[in-house]
Amino acid sequence: MTPSVAFYEDIWVVVDDGVYEPADDTFMLCANLEIAPGETVLEIGTGCGLVAIVAAKAGAKVVATDQSAAAVQNARKNVTLHGCGSRIEIRQGDLFDPINTKETFTLVLINPPYLPGTKEDPAFDPAWSGGIKGYELTERFLDQCVQYLDPNGRLLLVQSSLTDPEHIQLRLERLFRMVKVKDEKAFFFERLLIFEAQDPK
Ligand SMILES: C[S@@+](CC[C@H](N)C(=O)[O-])C[C@H]1O[C@@H](n2cnc3c(N)ncnc32)[C@H](O)[C@@H]1O
Repeated sequence: MTPSVAFYEDIWVVVDDGVYEPADDTFMLCANLEIAPGETVLEIGTGCGLVAIVAAKAGAKVVATDQSAAAVQNARKNVTLHGCGSRIEIRQGDLFDPINTKETFTLVLINPPYLPGTKEDPAFDPAWSGGIKGYELTERFLDQCVQYLDPNGRLLLVQSSLTDPEHIQLRLERLFRMVKVKDEKAFFFERLLIFEAQDPK
């Protein structure tokens, strides 16, 4: 299959076969970034790299990761196409594995796979499937996230009514401070939420 092209405002990216196609959740995350120049951003699960590129163009220095080799290759290609190579580093691996334990960031971003589904399901897709209940990968992410935030750093997390946003909000409130729903929108078959939370240190 030929690659497709996705747009956010005036930024376009190539989306390779097998890589998550930017959608409403991606665009909501982009619209809520509010990056101050000089911020250091970590995006986990970058897909084709669109969110990382939007953050870099707003003035951030970005590390973006994905466990999928196809996504990492795709994101690197888009970073080069946008001339952002000095501002974005793409790394491959599971969640925080590619991050040095001493690295910290002012902002951590994730639009995680959040639909119920496991590897045993015929329709399993690691870009969408977040575990039996849909939120297991998000829980694993949250349990490690705080250690990678600067003091006063913040987290932006996409969630969907198709999983259990109330469950995730309770976990956020246990681990972070100043947890709030920063944005919420109803779409055809789901309600999307952007949670914002601050480092508790
Ligand atoms: C819903 S897509 C979001 C992609 C992109 N951030 C966006 O908003 O368009 C989730 C991404 O997370 C990646 N992913 C899934 N499991 C992961 C894991 N354990 N560690 C890192 N990335 C993962 C997938 O390959 C996919 O690219």
